[in-house]
Amino acid sequence: MITFDLITIFPKAFDSYLAESIIKRAQQKKLIKIKIHNLRDYTMDKHKKVDDRPYGGGPGMILMVESISKALRALKSKIKNQKSKIRIIMLTPAGKKFTQREVERLAKYNQLILLCGRYEGFDARVDKLVDEKISIGDYVLSGGELPAMVVVEAVARQIPGVVGHKDALSEETFAKGLDYVEYPQYTRPEKFKVKSQKSKVKIMEVPKVLLSGNHKEIKKWRERQSKKRK
Ligand code: ADE
Repeated sequence: MITFDLITIFPKAFDSYLAESIIKRAQQKKLIKIKIHNLRDYTMDKHKKVDDRPYGGGPGMILMVESISKALRALKSKIKNQKSKIRIIMLTPAGKKFTQREVERLAKYNQLILLCGRYEGFDARVDKLVDEKISIGDYVLSGGELPAMVVVEAVARQIPGVVGHKDALSEETFAKGLDYVEYPQYTRPEKFKVKSQKSKVKIMEVPKVLLSGNHKEIKKWRERQSKKRK
């Protein structure tokens, strides 16, 4: 069981995605727990202000340190088992790149606290309150909500029982968390007719070897195809 605590100012952003498919089942089966915390519940003033203008000037708003500190303290105070392995992670484009190797590392924790930013970023003092910073890629999103969801899904898939088919993980796209090694896959129908723009009919067929039942040949073909895709 791994617990994800997500701290956000848009708690509703997660509802629909987390209530679907693999992630939904994983929660029902109690393999993972996901708790969403509204940062505004931890603000210091009655206006529930979470952001302010940067000292020294500049564009946009900055997330304030106090409510984040309060939220993290509240979460830490609820931890019952002191031996539990916990990691506090800030989602930010300035973080360490999230890769399959990082996914496997994070899956070893009992609890991940994910801090989602918004606006122009966090007060720099928030850095001192977290264990690490993660970026899901070299592009800037409007907030850490989508990145947090990416982390939740990728890590949850590592928990035994979350991914349905028992072989799905080992055969999958990433061998040992390193390279992209997947081969092309096909399902029914064997022949698929498509009309081109000039109304010419083209038939797209499944490679013969996959229909042959010759597992040795299929394996060889897949290995060749995987290399081609690199
Ligand atoms: N917040 C905004 N952009 C992000 C990114 N690429 N990764 C993680 N957090 C972010």
